[in-house]
Amino acid sequence: MPSVLIKTYGCQMNERDTEQVASMFLAGGYELTDDEAAADIILINTCSVREKAELKALGKMGLLCSRPTAKPHVVYGFMGCMSQSRAHSLFRDIARLDVVTGTHQYHRVYELCNRLLRSRLGMNITEPIARGAHICSVQGEEGFQNKIKDHLPNPAGCSAFISIMQGCDMHCSYCIVPSTRGEECSRPAADILAEARELVSGGVKEITLLGQIVNRYGKDEPLVGGRSAFVRLLEALCEIDGLERLRFTSPHPIGFREDLVRAYTYLPKLCSHIHFPMQSGSDRILQLMRRPYKHEKYERLCAAMREARPDLAITTDIIVGFPGETDEDFRLTVEAVERIQFDNAFVFQYSPRRDTPAAVMDAQICLRVKEERNHALLEVVNRIATARNHALVGTVQSILVEGPSKNNPLRLQGRTSQNKPVMIPTGSASIGSIVPVHITECTGFTLYGDVQA
Ligand code: 5AD
Ligand code: SF4
Repeated sequence: MPSVLIKTYGCQMNERDTEQVASMFLAGGYELTDDEAAADIILINTCSVREKAELKALGKMGLLCSRPTAKPHVVYGFMGCMSQSRAHSLFRDIARLDVVTGTHQYHRVYELCNRLLRSRLGMNITEPIARGAHICSVQGEEGFQNKIKDHLPNPAGCSAFISIMQGCDMHCSYCIVPSTRGEECSRPAADILAEARELVSGGVKEITLLGQIVNRYGKDEPLVGGRSAFVRLLEALCEIDGLERLRFTSPHPIGFREDLVRAYTYLPKLCSHIHFPMQSGSDRILQLMRRPYKHEKYERLCAAMREARPDLAITTDIIVGFPGETDEDFRLTVEAVERIQFDNAFVFQYSPRRDTPAAVMDAQICLRVKEERNHALLEVVNRIATARNHALVGTVQSILVEGPSKNNPLRLQGRTSQNKPVMIPTGSASIGSIVPVHITECTGFTLYGDVQA
């Protein structure tokens, strides 16, 4: 049986895309492997949002392609965001690379690689491919977002991701996504609902909807009863019997309306967690970032959501060291973090991305200052995260048990509605169940507890 190894660098959307590609290989009679020496096809799905992930992926592929191997037929390919933006230049960088496919081509990866492998192995195929032929397919395709939606059979099988839209029309000045993922494009609600029903009938309890700006889902559709297409989609998904938890990521202040705030009051399946990127607490920097709203709006939305759902956990993304960011701008960000009291935050040092306006702005910030700000902000974030977790010690939280803990085989891991990881003793609950857990201890990131009788 031929085997395929797929490595993923990047966000949940990349993980989801990898899952889809992997399921097509499984359906085609391949097995998945982690063994680099055994694989017949090696694929790397790459993120390009920050430079680090790209360099890691390039370095890894370079190493793989230059190792001596007993299998000269191995097919090497890049897929995803970095392929989309670097395209043909990747073949120049890595001589042995065979396949580069873009973000609108995930559904073709299996077919391209399979044809190439079979032709190299001298197997009978209708259209053989010459040795060394490069296949580069980064063009957009009509309706691509609906071409594949298979999920990998997940052994725990209790939570799954559904991609509801692709692309982004916002053009933040630092962000490469609009050029890698293209224009916003929403999937039909009927298809999303059918996919969700299928997942739930297979045992899935929790679904996370994915999109660059999920709340702009179906933005051209008219409001119905004051509710946007996105809120109506949430309502319809909550009607599915057997679905216990619904999440979405990530929303944006633009298009975040009162109806979505209200949804937290009448949709109990909607989890008490939102990952809501703030990026900066300074209006001047938000403007340079081309984010068309004032920070005050962001805080107003956080307060309104907490009023609608008092136990709501809010996490965020923040960029430090954006070009032109002064000490005063940074101070405004730190103060905003103190006021909002995030449950956690990803802090990113600004990383210049090719063909984005911010990369050529004056007043780029030096690495030392970026690092100092990163470090200082993380201290604040961690202090607040720890305090917020401490406040949960002594409470009872419902957790969805997902499987064994990666770090300690004597524990099972689950997550609260607030999306906090919780460790419980092995054997105290079955995988896939939702159980009440008495929280006894915590760190800044993890909770520990015992299942209540
Ligand atoms: N530099 C640093 N961080 C970035 N992000 C996006 N582009 C960049 C960049 N050029 C961050 C944003 C976004 C998250 C996914 O990645 O905070 O929300
Ligand atoms: Fe990038 Fe901004 Fe779109 Fe998010 S909203 S994907 S940061 S352009």
